[in-house]
Amino acid sequence: HTIYLKDYTPPVYQVETLNLKFELGDEFTVVTSTAHYQRDPSHLGNTLLELDGEDLELISVQLDGRYLQVNQDYRLTPEGLQILTMPAQGSLEIVTRIYPQKNTALEGLYQSSGNFCTQCEAQGFRKITYYQDRPDVMTLFTTDIIAERAKYPVLLSNGNLVAAGELEEGKHWARWLDPYRKPAYLFALVAGHLKHVEDFYTTGSGRKVTLRIYTEPHNISKCEHAMQSLKRAMRWDEQRFGLEYDLDIYMIVAVDDFNMGAMENKGLNIFNSKLVFASPETATDQDYINIESVIGHEYFHNWTGNRITCRDWFQLSLKEGLTVFRDQEFTADLHSPAVKRIEDVRMLRTFQFTEDASPMAHPIRPASYMEINNFYTMTVYEKGAEVVRLYQTLLGRAGFRQGMDLYFARHDGQAVTTEDFLAAMADANQADLKQLQRWYDQAGTPEVKVTMTYDATAQTCRLHCVQSIPATPESQHKQPQLIPLQVGLLRETGADLALYLEDQPCDGILQLTQAEQSFRFTQVPEQPVPSLLRNFSAPVRLVYPYTEAELIFLMKHDSDAFNRWDAGQRLAMRAFESLLLDLKQGIPLGLSHECVCAWQVVLTDENLDPALRAEALSLPSETDIAEQLRPADPAAIHQVREFVLTTLAKALRLDFEIIFYRLQHQGVYQIDAASMGKRRLKNVCLAYLGHLDDQAVPALCAEQYAQANNMTDALAALAVLVDIDCPERVAALQHFHDRWQHDPLVMDKWFALQASSSLPNTLQQVQQLLEHPLFDMRNPNKVRALIGSFALRNPWHFHAADGSGYAFLAERVLWLNERNPQVAARMVRPLINWRHYESGRAQLMRGQLERIQAHQGLSADVYEIVSKSLATA
Ligand code: ARG
Ligand code: ZN
Repeated sequence: HTIYLKDYTPPVYQVETLNLKFELGDEFTVVTSTAHYQRDPSHLGNTLLELDGEDLELISVQLDGRYLQVNQDYRLTPEGLQILTMPAQGSLEIVTRIYPQKNTALEGLYQSSGNFCTQCEAQGFRKITYYQDRPDVMTLFTTDIIAERAKYPVLLSNGNLVAAGELEEGKHWARWLDPYRKPAYLFALVAGHLKHVEDFYTTGSGRKVTLRIYTEPHNISKCEHAMQSLKRAMRWDEQRFGLEYDLDIYMIVAVDDFNMGAMENKGLNIFNSKLVFASPETATDQDYINIESVIGHEYFHNWTGNRITCRDWFQLSLKEGLTVFRDQEFTADLHSPAVKRIEDVRMLRTFQFTEDASPMAHPIRPASYMEINNFYTMTVYEKGAEVVRLYQTLLGRAGFRQGMDLYFARHDGQAVTTEDFLAAMADANQADLKQLQRWYDQAGTPEVKVTMTYDATAQTCRLHCVQSIPATPESQHKQPQLIPLQVGLLRETGADLALYLEDQPCDGILQLTQAEQSFRFTQVPEQPVPSLLRNFSAPVRLVYPYTEAELIFLMKHDSDAFNRWDAGQRLAMRAFESLLLDLKQGIPLGLSHECVCAWQVVLTDENLDPALRAEALSLPSETDIAEQLRPADPAAIHQVREFVLTTLAKALRLDFEIIFYRLQHQGVYQIDAASMGKRRLKNVCLAYLGHLDDQAVPALCAEQYAQANNMTDALAALAVLVDIDCPERVAALQHFHDRWQHDPLVMDKWFALQASSSLPNTLQQVQQLLEHPLFDMRNPNKVRALIGSFALRNPWHFHAADGSGYAFLAERVLWLNERNPQVAARMVRPLINWRHYESGRAQLMRGQLERIQAHQGLSADVYEIVSKSLATA
């Protein structure tokens, strides 16, 4: 059953206040909700009030103190409850019983490690009580929580604690009042045996805010980094956007069982514990960075999501695209902007471009969906953030800030649409941005083909640009989009030419608005090398017929750090493409001397930030290659990529060793950006050395593993060992297990490592690990670590030619389908691009999708993805 954006109608009833009472019990919980409804005065005579509800046991319904009768006053439907004769205003009290202890879908009210918690976005509130579970119904929440004090000493909800007390039989209660109107998806409740760390933050205008992070007692020492990250986020949002926190307390709760990363519930964020806990021994540098970024993300939602929310779920990117953009800028401002940009674009290209080329392709604002949970995607989040970035690229930072200011001035307290955001940006800058709307309505990654002609006599240089957007399920024929294309022209010396467009000084940002367009630069004294799509100024595929020599030139000289990196990526992709061809034709494989030297120059350039050198040495993944060079043969791709890595390792062995040893002894461990960059480069060197067929390598890794005083180095060494069949591997894995078996988050790394091994028996290993006492299919982090890593980070084995990887995944998807449909629907995704693979594998992948589709009792989540994947293109 499909829901369409075009069918949106405003709610007939608004809710003035909502009082919730939770009586938390060992077997079930009783929820009493009392809401004051107010009919929209423009609706005369419409008396039906439709409330959403799922998996609820209804106990009673009262309207203004009078019990209502089933089928006479109200009706139960598969979707919820209908009040048949609702007056213009009235107070409804509804009592329901729910079973959080049996909730394996981790949506609504559930238990994690014996504590109660909630996840209501997108539509989990309807599993708590009957309500209009839609974001354009915003109200004032008061929450009473009653529970046994011994088991649940801490009782939390949104807003401020206004009263608390003792009850008989060892019970106690607490009342929370949230002074801001909010939609139901931002509701949260937590109850349990928790400890907290506390800190304070004083806002620019002098509000003193209490900050607390709650966890199970044994993790209390690992919250300091998250706390410092929160304070940095609060400061940054004031400085960059003038936005202050608006309550007296900000709480974060870490839970082990969580479907996603984290949730921005008003005043009471709930986090997957992997995005809170950090200590040098247990968390990698990447974990530290991820924690800071997600703490920032959820904090930034307080304004972009909570104060201004979405009118309906089609508008999800309004809050997510904008908030991801904000967290990207936060990380860029605090660390290295170039490194951050490179990493974001790498992820976008690997996963979002893939999604945009899949049967699940959708615009950042979808026009329809079956199950909204399937639209918390790379497209809505990451492409959405790229589209927000387009405004900043076009309007400048100051113009973007003016647009944000107007957006808040106009819409604070409202539930709005992406058009409202576009209008605020346009009006604040008196700019015509209408064509940007197409980015919200059209799916597919635009391709921009550029060619250059140089006229030596006229001293002009012409860039000819052709844009096209591939057909996607929602539309075959696309309109041209507004694409800011940031360019530079490089002289022979490597310096940038001053740009003149038809003799007018130009800032380098070309605005593509038509299918085909030419730009003529004047005063160009020599034939330049163009640097195109600088800083990745738009989420497009840029095609330009670069020669190998030009790419190597850009790698060395481009003043744009992003494009210097990207030239290396293009160079690698060219090499992979021709090697794949050679392999097919039985021609012996070889890598040009110029290529090898180009990477050597980057590797050994002491003037370059070590993190950027590490990025340059990290070649496109097997998944990237598969998506760019279709139809894909994963075995051939693995072979040529390994060939390139091994060739570079042999040719540059001395450089890798020198840099490795020099960086190995840097003294005390620190987690600042510079130290992280050095560790990164060192460990990239180690990974290359791992490709040498040399007895010294396992010993080197074993030594780093044994000596490491931090998880980054320990894990990097283990990651190399895990691909080598040697006694050091067995010993190190066993040691890691014995040392960390008490820590589930660290054990996730142990499972993930083994699932991504390139050794031949990896699938059997993964199957055995399913039976490991510390593995748990009901915990989403474990599923992602073991099964997700195998399917996404081990393409060679996942795509085994006999189809064993596909059959394994399908079986796990069906297991999850019964218990946790959201996670099941995520796990099925590695199968959906079956059309991109050579025919043997394509048929095997399709076969498993058909097997899943034929399964009785398929959840809506899995059904949507599988049926769309099998639909005839
Ligand atoms: N709004 C959350 C965030 O991005 C994501 C929650 C999504 N949850 C879900 N079940 N779809 O920060
Ligand atoms: Zn978000």
